[in-house]
Amino acid sequence: MPVTIVVGGFFGDEGKGKIIAYLAKHDEPEIVARGGVGPNAGHTVVVEGAKYALRMVPSGFICESARLLVGAGVLINPEVLKQEVDSFGLKGRVGVDRRCGIIEKEHIEEDKSDKHLKGKIGSTGSGCGPANAARAMRTARQAKDVEELQEFLSDVPQELNEAVDSEKGVLIEGTQGFGISLLYGSYPFVTSKDTTASQMAADVGIGPTRVDDVVVVFKSFPTRVGEGPFETQMSETKAAELHIEEFGTVTRRKRRIGVWDGRMAAYSAMINGATMVALSGVDRLDPSCKGVREYEELSKEVKEFVAKIEHDTRVPVKLISTGPEVSEIVDLRAN
Ligand code: GTP
Ligand code: IMP
Ligand code: MG
Repeated sequence: MPVTIVVGGFFGDEGKGKIIAYLAKHDEPEIVARGGVGPNAGHTVVVEGAKYALRMVPSGFICESARLLVGAGVLINPEVLKQEVDSFGLKGRVGVDRRCGIIEKEHIEEDKSDKHLKGKIGSTGSGCGPANAARAMRTARQAKDVEELQEFLSDVPQELNEAVDSEKGVLIEGTQGFGISLLYGSYPFVTSKDTTASQMAADVGIGPTRVDDVVVVFKSFPTRVGEGPFETQMSETKAAELHIEEFGTVTRRKRRIGVWDGRMAAYSAMINGATMVALSGVDRLDPSCKGVREYEELSKEVKEFVAKIEHDTRVPVKLISTGPEVSEIVDLRAN
């Protein structure tokens, strides 16, 4: 994995945290760098029964040798960052670009009370929208202006590009998903920034010519939180019958659930420039596949589903996640 970007192909919460954690543990990159909007994201990582919810630090933290960076494009909530560094014991491993935008208390208050943001869009209330607005107005503070962040400050593009120059592995972690991209999603029911692979590269300061792989993560049953259209949404009763209900990592809101959307997947794979697909949650499609690690042991139903996804997206499915645990995965990259 010289330079690999991982992004969400549907509406966020596709299981990027799990996929990134697996890639970090298995491939042992020199650096895992996070792009994306900010602490509106919540990645879930489950390692040997222990569950971690990450909003600011990269999910690749489980690879103990990896340096963990947050790119300039990302908004920082200093309190959330400090809390994660302390509770996961990451002191000394985390670097924050000097130019990251800062989420202030007023941004959070506005996001939580604003009729348009909270009411109409169903924002996460984490202050990201107002903080990105302040950034565009050029009134926002940057990480370098914040006392508590001094110990983390770094030049993220410099660190990353030096690692690439010496042929070290670099894993770039995207957040959110294609359907809530400010540019390509269902505007106005979107987040405050683009969410595609090109944006993630810009967020961390890697030029497009240096990227080798783009992994687009899709979940077998797509989900959406917040407002906005969801063409393949199923009824709550149906989701309950299938035992596939889900709740948000950040807001604890119930996620709306749908079935596979081939058209959206194809469009998303195209704009992301996908070189491979990671498919999560096949154990929800067929519980007999829970924890399977070999392709041959997957059921006929799941194998047919994988073939359909390859047909729809015209991209090979190389990672098949069979449960939330980091180890529950079929890795076909060597094939
Ligand atoms: P955002 O960056 O917020 O978009 O989140 P994310 O893509 O990292 O996904 P998130 O962790 O919010 O949600 C995915 C949920 O599915 C979590 O609860 C994971 O533990 C779970 N999960 C991931 N992969 C699998 C899988 O293969 N099977 C099952 N059953 N659950 C999975
Ligand atoms: P905001 O990003 O908090 O402004 O929220 C705007 C919309 O994007 C809302 O519908 C949120 O539910 C959604 N959203 C933002 N971040 C995520 C994420 O990480 N996963 C899923 N949905 C998200
Ligand atoms: Mg999430």
